[in-house]
Amino acid sequence: MCGIVGYVGSKQALEIVVEGLRRLEYRGYDSAGVAVITGGELEMRKKAGKLANLEALLGEDPLPDSTTGIGHTRWATHGAPNDINAHPHLSGDARVAIIHNGIIENFAELRDELIAMGVETVSETDSEVAAHLLALALPEWDGDLAAAMRAVCRRLEGAFTLVAIDADAPDLLVAARRNSPLVVGRGKGENFVASDVAAFIAHTRDAIELGQDQVVVLTKDDVLVTDFEGNPADYNEFEVTWDASAAEKGGFDLFMLKEISEQPRAVADTLLGRINRQGLLQLDDMRLSLEEIRAIEKVVIVACGTAYHAGMVAKYAIEHWTRIPCEVELASEFRYRDPIVDSRTLVIAISQSGETMDTLMALRHGRQQGAKALAICNTQGATIPRESDAVLYTYAGPEIAVASTKAFLTQIVATYLVALYLAQVRGHMFGDEIRAVVDELSNMPNAVDLVLDTTEGVRELAREFADATSVLFIGRHVGFPVALEGALKLKELAYMHAEGFAAGELKHGPIALIESGVPVVVVVPSPRGRSVLHEKIVSNIQEVRARGAITIVIAEEGDELVVPYADHLVRVPEVPTLMQPLVSTVPLQVFACEMATVKGHDVDQPRNLAKSVTVE
Ligand code: AGP
Repeated sequence: MCGIVGYVGSKQALEIVVEGLRRLEYRGYDSAGVAVITGGELEMRKKAGKLANLEALLGEDPLPDSTTGIGHTRWATHGAPNDINAHPHLSGDARVAIIHNGIIENFAELRDELIAMGVETVSETDSEVAAHLLALALPEWDGDLAAAMRAVCRRLEGAFTLVAIDADAPDLLVAARRNSPLVVGRGKGENFVASDVAAFIAHTRDAIELGQDQVVVLTKDDVLVTDFEGNPADYNEFEVTWDASAAEKGGFDLFMLKEISEQPRAVADTLLGRINRQGLLQLDDMRLSLEEIRAIEKVVIVACGTAYHAGMVAKYAIEHWTRIPCEVELASEFRYRDPIVDSRTLVIAISQSGETMDTLMALRHGRQQGAKALAICNTQGATIPRESDAVLYTYAGPEIAVASTKAFLTQIVATYLVALYLAQVRGHMFGDEIRAVVDELSNMPNAVDLVLDTTEGVRELAREFADATSVLFIGRHVGFPVALEGALKLKELAYMHAEGFAAGELKHGPIALIESGVPVVVVVPSPRGRSVLHEKIVSNIQEVRARGAITIVIAEEGDELVVPYADHLVRVPEVPTLMQPLVSTVPLQVFACEMATVKGHDVDQPRNLAKSVTVE
């Protein structure tokens, strides 16, 4: 949710911190703030609204030179998004400044305690208590900020990443994490902390993934990691594979447009190197033994939002190729319903960010019940892959636009690879059958490219329907999650009512929504797949049309049967049934993006949303 960045070194901290915030703004954009230490004093600027407001303030009221600084971009949880609630927060004596991501669950109790001690709080945030607690703890720990931070962390409940600076220790940053993301970037004569590597990849690719309940102390030359008790702690070092340009717009007006256009490459990269010399699928990070894989009796996919839709698509492939029962569950519901999970269950957590709290909690719940956990993730150094038994990374590169696009396609590809691997190990498919599917997958970047070459018609449609009050999406089989995804994109970007339905459900209620002029987007299955599905959706198109709907039909090249019933026809290339979501989703992404643009909305940073939802 919030974006956090900290710098200690010998360059101008403010420039580096603001640049880092620019790259992290997708995580939250309700307010932004920075603090630096200069001449033994803390100086801070913060402002409600987007980072641009803070930058304007810094232009009017510049901060002095400093080589140590912190910055924050907020997605509000406790307290309105105003200047006072913006981070950093200062201790009463203005000696300590902190930035925070997460929710301190016992903050009310801690705040009452502080008030009883005569401490004045100024904001409505849970975060501010950490600043006051740190300032109070400092004398007890002989002014040692790291020791004070550990002591404070031992008292906090919930999820937090905290970064603190102390006016009396100007060459030091201290950060801590529990349940919220934090990575360290190691430079030469400079070090960084951030919510994700995008903040510092322009400066270093040497990164450290911190573990749960760890505190890191950074000076310009050293990085020291301990647990909350002060014992030296283990951490993983890794090299960031993204380069700085991957997190920039690269000539596009919007990150979303860039990311839509990157889909062929993202799919290709996710497939790269998965087949070995013997022609067998080889998933390097799949740390599950063959015995463990053979013992799996059930697959449970947990995910949220777009990743959940990818999981819904995956279910069709997993059950078809492996014959293992597969359930797909919204991560936010999973652990609250006493799910039946045991050591023969494989829990697959799908998450672009690897930090979604609901998905993390579902994963942990599965592991507590004895299940093996596999993460499908796009972000190195994130918590979900670190806490999983096995990992399959999607190689989509950084996804900055809040609306997920390339992550969705690569998540589908990754789940398909997992399904094929399970089928290979368990002998459900022959090697040549698996290779045939991998070949089909390898053709997908070209197929997606073809879709991207023909999006002008979809843009025109978006402009034509920009004033619609509601858009409905229907699909069958793998087209059903695509319909849900199309509707989600429209809701989050165009702020309009949009619903996705299984086309077969129409007659059980949703058809009552159809009235003259309602646009209905129909994701048509291939007539060459299960023709019965095709026949049925053609009937569904007729049913909605008979009631006045305007149909926008997404159908493959050569499908002539739908032509008489399509008010508007969007063609996608002919691909095998299970590959269809990879092509039919793309026009829906473009439709939503264009619709939001026409309406004048901020496409990359839609209202009320944040890219990475690190609170439950
Ligand atoms: C969709 O466009 C959203 N960005 C959202 O639904 C997202 O997919 C969801 O929050 C899950 O995020 P994750 O993949 O990072 O876990």
